[in-house]
Amino acid sequence: MVIDIQNISWERGDETILSGMNWQVKRGEHWCLLGLNGSGKTTLLNMINGYIWPTTGKISVLGHAFGEYDLRELRKRIGWVSTSLQQKLYGSGEALQIVLSGKHSTIGVYDELQESDLDRARSLMQSLGCERLMNRAYQTLSQGERQRVLIARALMNNPELLILDEPCTGLDIFAREQLLSMIGTIAGEENPPTLIYVTHHVEEILPCFGHSLLIKQGKVFAADRTEELMSPERMSEFLDVPVHIERMNGRYWLSVKST
Ligand SMILES: Nc1ncnc2c1ncn2[C@@H]1O[C@H](COP(=O)(O)OP(=O)(O)OP(=O)(O)O)[C@@H](O)[C@H]1O
Ligand SMILES: [Mg+2]
Repeated sequence: MVIDIQNISWERGDETILSGMNWQVKRGEHWCLLGLNGSGKTTLLNMINGYIWPTTGKISVLGHAFGEYDLRELRKRIGWVSTSLQQKLYGSGEALQIVLSGKHSTIGVYDELQESDLDRARSLMQSLGCERLMNRAYQTLSQGERQRVLIARALMNNPELLILDEPCTGLDIFAREQLLSMIGTIAGEENPPTLIYVTHHVEEILPCFGHSLLIKQGKVFAADRTEELMSPERMSEFLDVPVHIERMNGRYWLSVKST
């Protein structure tokens, strides 16, 4: 089991942000997470990374229950790409340094690096098509370029779990398709990391994402095979508006029905 979440809740003051959540991710599965703004997706990911703890319930990630394992060690086994990370990394050096900092899952590079680390960082940047950006200041990169650098950073440790929180935000359609195709390639490699992909757009759900978790108002609305969930009936119920869903080239396209 890669992620095992049992009946967790997360409360802040009088507010219940997550409640009664159950979710199990097995090795070999890749999951998509869908939910409207504020539904609790990023909060759930912060919990999986050990940045916040559940108020009630149990969580175990990569076979370790929280509290029984050094979280820093756990984080080294998880690759994480999110726009909140982009802000934290803002202004912290050249793109290559950012990729290298993935080795210790830290913001800056504090430890000794070896030649093999440099080789790995270079080859990841090459396979993600951002090698030419190596010596550019991270803050001068475009949104799409930054996302590639962040994915290279997340892969630096050869993670067992790769979490992508809205990686296509702010990308033009070409950059988006390129990034999706790179994600598809990662999923297709031998012994790939388990992928968790958060998005607002069902058309970004690649065929490799065989399962999806639908989150609504801090609760699991459904956790099922993506194919089962992508029906107009279930998505209309999820979104509280009547929707059309079309399937093309193994991907789904959603539009709101005019009334
Ligand atoms: N530290 C916090 N204290 C209080 N409320 C919080 C905290 N963190 C998140 N929230 C609230 O929890 C809810 C869920 O937030 P979260 O960031 O998980 O949503 P999300 O599903 O990732 O949304 P989006 O699609 O906009 O990224 C929001 O209403 C948010 O304001
Ligand atoms: Mg979010």
